[in-house]
Amino acid sequence: MRTVAIHAVPEEQLTHVTFDATMEERISELLTHYPTRRAALLPVLWLCQERYGWIAPGVIEAVAARLGESPAFVQGVVTFYTMFYTSPPARYVLQVCKTLSCAVCGGRELLEHLKARLGIDLGERTQDGTFQLIGVQCLGACGSAPVIQINDDYYENLTIEQLDALVDELSQGKEA
Ligand code: FES
Repeated sequence: MRTVAIHAVPEEQLTHVTFDATMEERISELLTHYPTRRAALLPVLWLCQERYGWIAPGVIEAVAARLGESPAFVQGVVTFYTMFYTSPPARYVLQVCKTLSCAVCGGRELLEHLKARLGIDLGERTQDGTFQLIGVQCLGACGSAPVIQINDDYYENLTIEQLDALVDELSQGKEA
């Protein structure tokens, strides 16, 4: 499995967003799958996060204009779902499952190990912008606990040794 790093576009470049031809084509194609423009909001936001790395206020404005919604409505949706980043994320976002199955199968130890190794707490990111640590509820893979999601990928049945090897690789700029 290869975990692709997030490249977050700086906020100053997202003040006034105009979708280029590629984005416009992808949005138009998405809209053909939904009965209304509003119904396509989540996939359009997902597409934007894939493209810009996060959902900046300027992106919210552009999506709202494209779908005929108010920026306040779009912002409400963006802030409701934790999967959308409302500030530039680190290159690798480590989401550690804190729910029971993972917690009792080694998840607590993985989390404490990560905190100590990276020198950050939950909700923080390393100074070099490589890692960000988030505690999440059940990732739906309890049968292979403990689980950590890194960007879009799941790492299951993780041991501290495997996690260390993974962090080593990602730190060195290798995609895992
Ligand atoms: S408890 Fe961790 S994936 Fe379900």
